[in-house]
Amino acid sequence: MARITASVYTSHVPAIGAAMDLGKDKEPYWQKVFAGYDFSRQWIKDNKPDVVFLVYNDHATAFSLDIIPTFAIGTAAEFAVADEGWGPRPVPKVEGAPELAAHIAHSVIQQDFDLTIVNRMDVDHGLTVPLSLMCGQPKQWPFKVIPFAVNVVQYPVPSGMRCFRLGQAIRKAVESYDEDVNVQIWGTGGMSHQLQGPRAGLINREWDNRFLDRLIEDPEGLANVGHIEYVKEAGSEGIELVMWLIARGAMADVAGGPKPTVKHRFYHVPASNTAVGHLILENNQ
Ligand code: DHB
Ligand code: FE
Repeated sequence: MARITASVYTSHVPAIGAAMDLGKDKEPYWQKVFAGYDFSRQWIKDNKPDVVFLVYNDHATAFSLDIIPTFAIGTAAEFAVADEGWGPRPVPKVEGAPELAAHIAHSVIQQDFDLTIVNRMDVDHGLTVPLSLMCGQPKQWPFKVIPFAVNVVQYPVPSGMRCFRLGQAIRKAVESYDEDVNVQIWGTGGMSHQLQGPRAGLINREWDNRFLDRLIEDPEGLANVGHIEYVKEAGSEGIELVMWLIARGAMADVAGGPKPTVKHRFYHVPASNTAVGHLILENNQ
């Protein structure tokens, strides 16, 4: 059967992608950010998944205000890299896993989560920056990707608890797939940041680090935190962090299995306007 072997959590700051694409990643400012991913780039080579179920948010690229799906699963065979206004990033196109994606859609919808099925979609920095952080600049991404877009841009956004429960449903869906597939689930976006208004530039190190602690030790308690706390404490764009609870909800301990091993933890300020957080949790089967 297919199984979820690990979860990866990382911020998606667009300027990180630009720094890599423009060859600025060796500059001292950026070196401090990329240093946090040295371990991860070796780890992903040593623990190469077949498929990454990549939870991210679209930034009005694939979806405009015309249609706002709360949860959208990409079932296509491939996904083009979006043009976000400066031309598409010079990174490989993203290869999908249509059969597994269709199976997950079927199972998760039958478990009472309403997913939007997306057969054609371009993917923006929310998805490509985490890939670049973890894999560097390969000619082809080393695994298939199921893009899973969550609306955290236009209110109302889903609660942390709904995201956490959805992660549990995704785990069941993956484990009910007959083929032997090594799946990782990634939760992306965050950490604290606010891009607009009088509080623009807000960063909350203490809250972010407490979030990381609780994500590891007390994910269910963390799932009870309401939107207002995210916005107050982590800024308007800090709400992206609810997506990390989808990945965490899919880990074995939540279903009564053993606790995951923390393989890597990193936190750094600043990167553009955001705090960068990163975590790798491995399931112990
Ligand atoms: C920035 C961060 C984001 O998460 C984003 O989607 C866009 C911009 C920033 O730090 O500038
Ligand atoms: Fe963002």
